[in-house]
Amino acid sequence: MFIESFKVESPNVKYIEGEIQSVYNYETTELVHENRNGTYQWVVKPKTVKYEFKTDTHVPKLGVLLVGWGGNNGSTLTGGVIANREGISWATKDKVQQANYFGSLTQASSIRVGSYNGEEIYAPFKSLLPMVNPDDIVFGGWDISDMNLADAMARARVMEIDLQKQLRPYMESMIPLPGIYNPDFIAANQGSRANNVIKGTKKEQVQQIIKDIREFKEKSKVERIVVLWTANTERYSNVVVGLNDTMENLMASVDKNEAEISPSTLYAIACVLENVPFINGSPQNTFVPGLIELAIQRNSLIGGDDFKSGQTKMKSVLVDFLVGAGIKPTSIVSYNHLGNNDGMNLSAPQTFRSKEISKSNVVDDMVSSNGILYEPGEHPDHVVVIKYVPYVADSKRAMDEYTSEIFMGGKNTIVLHNTCEDSLLAAPIILDLVLLAELSTRIQLKAEGEGKFHSFHPVATILSYLTKAPLVPPGTPVVNALSKQRAMLENIMRACIGLAPENNMILEYK
Ligand code: NAI
Repeated sequence: MFIESFKVESPNVKYIEGEIQSVYNYETTELVHENRNGTYQWVVKPKTVKYEFKTDTHVPKLGVLLVGWGGNNGSTLTGGVIANREGISWATKDKVQQANYFGSLTQASSIRVGSYNGEEIYAPFKSLLPMVNPDDIVFGGWDISDMNLADAMARARVMEIDLQKQLRPYMESMIPLPGIYNPDFIAANQGSRANNVIKGTKKEQVQQIIKDIREFKEKSKVERIVVLWTANTERYSNVVVGLNDTMENLMASVDKNEAEISPSTLYAIACVLENVPFINGSPQNTFVPGLIELAIQRNSLIGGDDFKSGQTKMKSVLVDFLVGAGIKPTSIVSYNHLGNNDGMNLSAPQTFRSKEISKSNVVDDMVSSNGILYEPGEHPDHVVVIKYVPYVADSKRAMDEYTSEIFMGGKNTIVLHNTCEDSLLAAPIILDLVLLAELSTRIQLKAEGEGKFHSFHPVATILSYLTKAPLVPPGTPVVNALSKQRAMLENIMRACIGLAPENNMILEYK
């Protein structure tokens, strides 16, 4: 059974004016490696830490500024939200299609709240905590191409024609602000697109982005802003001692107009200085060490990297299942071909390399979790190939072959073929990222013994379900397995309303 909303009644939660306060007992373990009578032994000690959470329930009017607004993702997301807001439906050759938010964790997935009369009861994921309604978002952003969003939507060839016709009047007047362009960081084949660029030194470019953010806030009358990079994949920037390794060096390098500071890092600096959350949806290392330090020092949310939309999402499910089942994946080979502008940009070796890196570490945590299957340091062969094939446009093909060793030396090969419009997968993920980033800035927590409430760590691991290569604070484990990432997010939200984590034990029926 499905219910639309619910309220928790418990001594652990208080709904007061403007705030939800909760107390949550975090059941965890402490490990010690002890010498007992001459032999070392692992000892696991259960421990309970009392946490208090408070969530600001005032849902702000939210502005979302996309870097790369006129791209396939930017135009698809903007059109998709308008279509939902306006209740647009359109004719396809199959049926009359209604706008929806399918593919969005927050808008189209559910959580289990309990059982009632022998039936499992589910509610919308978004009913856990007060969240911005995507229909209310005001969009804006930058692009190095000055094409208006209606033409950009046509260029993207993602939306059905009947839908495009209905969206055009809403999108024609949406024109991206000039962007920071540096041909050294993206493929040379993008040059012909760059007719809308911010001039000046890097310092002036950062100042311009800050000015743009402030003016947008003023004009659109939004209370909060989130900025998200969905522009071209850049090449990696070199991390060099004295250049971008510390906050001071990074800021000094901007002042000195150093060549190796990438456009994405410049946008991110502007956002951190403005205390505006910044999310990186592409694979490059926007968050160089100096930027991470700056974000931590200013307690400004940063999250990334690279949307986890298709092939990697499958991988972080399938390998988790295989290794969890005691089966040993030994070779994972992933081919992609796509024909959109992202594919064209990725056809240059330097930008492809960024994607290859972000796609390659996604099974590490699952492999290292099972020492029965893998020797220390052993890893499956893992190869990723991406080719540009213009004809298929945004309809990306992903072909994967997983070979595993099974019982008694047997081999098992699974082959997947996935065809899908890339931007229709990415757009709902972008939505989730901005909504969850905004929500997480309204949550404060305090562990037993901590003097005062604080926000989550500015490096937002809470968003990791949505990213291929989750950015984590220095010294924090990276979790790629999709089910764990979802459980983490859901359980933290449950803790905010005084509910225990979902444990799937269903003991009442045992
Ligand atoms: P796209 O190429 O259609 O759009 C990118 C837009 O960014 C273009 O309009 C371009 O003019 C603009 N741009 C480039 N550099 C800029 C800058 N410095 N400042 C402002 N604008 C700039 O690409 P698409 O398909 O929208 O993808 C965007 C990004 O998302 C790519 O990096 C892609 O790798 C990443 N991504 C996409 C996924 C998907 O499923 N669609 C999944 C994972 C990541």
